[in-house]
Amino acid sequence: MRGIKILGTGVYTPETKVTNDDLSQFMDTNNEWIESRTGIRSRNYSASVPNHEMAAMAAKAAAEDAGVAPEELDLIIASTCSPEFFYPCMSGLVQNIIGAVNAAVMDINTACTGFISAVDIASRYLEDGDYKKILVVASERLSPHVDFEDRSASILFGDGAAAAVIEKSHKPMYSYLSAKGDPFEALYCYVNKEHNCPYTKENEALNAIMDTEAKKNYLQMDGKGVYKFAVDAMATAVTKTLAKAGLTTDDIDLVIPHQANIRIIQSATKALGINPEKVYVNIYEHANTSSACIPTCLDDLKKEGRLKEGMKICLVGFGAGLTSGAIVFEQ
Ligand code: COA
Repeated sequence: MRGIKILGTGVYTPETKVTNDDLSQFMDTNNEWIESRTGIRSRNYSASVPNHEMAAMAAKAAAEDAGVAPEELDLIIASTCSPEFFYPCMSGLVQNIIGAVNAAVMDINTACTGFISAVDIASRYLEDGDYKKILVVASERLSPHVDFEDRSASILFGDGAAAAVIEKSHKPMYSYLSAKGDPFEALYCYVNKEHNCPYTKENEALNAIMDTEAKKNYLQMDGKGVYKFAVDAMATAVTKTLAKAGLTTDDIDLVIPHQANIRIIQSATKALGINPEKVYVNIYEHANTSSACIPTCLDDLKKEGRLKEGMKICLVGFGAGLTSGAIVFEQ
């Protein structure tokens, strides 16, 4: 039977805090619109720290919080949909920076569902018994991927990194992962690259999709389509995972959802009949940091002393892909 225990958490929040009023200085928007439609008041951007360094700082903080020396880590799983390098993988760069010399590494990308996918993979390695201590780190530097001429998408995202060190627990854990293939309509970001290979031609099929500079260079989103998907995906993932666990929403002490939009969280919470007091939200100051959202919430809760032994916790995420998933575990 799979089970996980969170030994420690850590975050890295980039230095540049940008409020809604700051955005309204160069964009046709205002605080009232953004806060009432999304819950977001501010976000942080990493002006100069690369994504893998953000990840490494969160990872180091998590290992310290766990009381685990970097050499004791057996595996690092990094989640990012905004890597700065095709290779080496971000987890390899983190391994090197923090000195986790004995750790194997791998990256995964299921966009905002990334932390859920990574913990699900980690739990299976822990169950197998080969790896005892696993670091899961999620780090996203989305600000360079966002089109600041697109006021409906750009206001939603922030940069951030967060990590957790986990080990096997004998208390059961259940998970559910899903994907609804939707390549180029709801949410995508193309990797635009120059090349000088004389044999490789412009790809007409891609050109037909990426027919403007914005589509070639920046995150593209159908806000309403994603919103609809997200409410349903969050409710479905929680329902399916609870069914596997033989639990109801009343048995859950804490729900930590992906922080995309306060209204998505509220609608899904209502559909599920969950007491809103059990649902943790920190979107106000962080915005959507993709796969870093859920571990950032975990770190907040751990620092506030609210992650208690024996609690039944539900993590639930959704994102580009369109992916979604949930995990129910007892801390
Ligand atoms: N400031 C002011 N006005 C804005 C604005 C902004 N930042 N962005 C859009 N508007 C305007 C629109 O132009 C539109 O004006 P119009 O009626 O004159 O055409 C109006 O506000 C309503 O736009 P609409 O797109 O209908 O808003 P919405 O209520 O659907 O909210 C989102 C837009 C993007 C906030 C919402 O759809 C959303 O959160 N979707 C989910 C996106 C998401 O979570 N993505 C990540 C998933 S991991």
